Amino acid sequence: MSSLLCSSIGKKLLMGLSGLFLMIFLLVHLGVNALLLVPDGGELFNAGAHFMATNPAVKIMEPILGLGFLVHIVYGVVLTLQNRKARGSAQYASGKKTKGVTWASQNMLVLGITILAFLVLHIAHFWVKMKVTGSDLLEHVTINIGGVPTEVENAYALVNATFSELWIVLVYVVAGIGLAIHLSHGFWSSFQSIGFSNNLWRKRLTTTGQVYAWFVGLGFALIALLQYLFFQA
Ligand code: HEM
Repeated sequence: MSSLLCSSIGKKLLMGLSGLFLMIFLLVHLGVNALLLVPDGGELFNAGAHFMATNPAVKIMEPILGLGFLVHIVYGVVLTLQNRKARGSAQYASGKKTKGVTWASQNMLVLGITILAFLVLHIAHFWVKMKVTGSDLLEHVTINIGGVPTEVENAYALVNATFSELWIVLVYVVAGIGLAIHLSHGFWSSFQSIGFSNNLWRKRLTTTGQVYAWFVGLGFALIALLQYLFFQA
């Protein structure tokens, strides 16, 4: 088993599986965050955040998500370094562009590091305040969940206050575009790494991947931008 995970195929498989897992997480995360755009003073978003914070199934997924990120980052760095070493100076030899090689595919590591830098800031702004340090902004509010008045953390107030600062919104816009470019290659590449690709499917997965990537990347960027422009008191 351990020799499989250390082999080139095993590493690619783990990279693909962790990539697919993270892409599902991003869709769910975007779905919950889209509630920030409902003009109801944050009630629906707070209900969504409360569900995510208290649902046992989501709680079980949290450490698995952390592991997914860790595997993806570690194997991403290892595979990129291995590929560079294997190619050596050959990649510069012809000086010509290889057909089918995109800018995204050649810059996955740099894009990944940019997303990681964004994540450090993002976790410090939200996750740390909600799970570790607390914040005055999170003071409980009572909302109506299925007809039952329920006390929940005011996660909306924290997010809304964070997106009142232009520099933070600009970071989200840049990170969203970086994420879209990363995913535009990562989507079909993940399927290829788990062995699910051939000439026909590669074309389909490339197109689906472009739609998915820009939908998710621009979706996150737009939520931050619209919060800044239209949702400040
Ligand atoms: C509009 C953009 C975004 C908003 C408003 C947002 C909001 C949040 C909030 C409120 C939390 C804390 C949830 C909790 O602890 O209960 C969180 C956590 C997290 N976010 Fe985001 N997020 C955004 C974009 C992103 C992006 C682009 C990524 C990944 C590239 C990301 C990855 C994560 C991760 C890994 C966590 C920690 C795990 C979790 O608590 O679910 N987020 N986000």
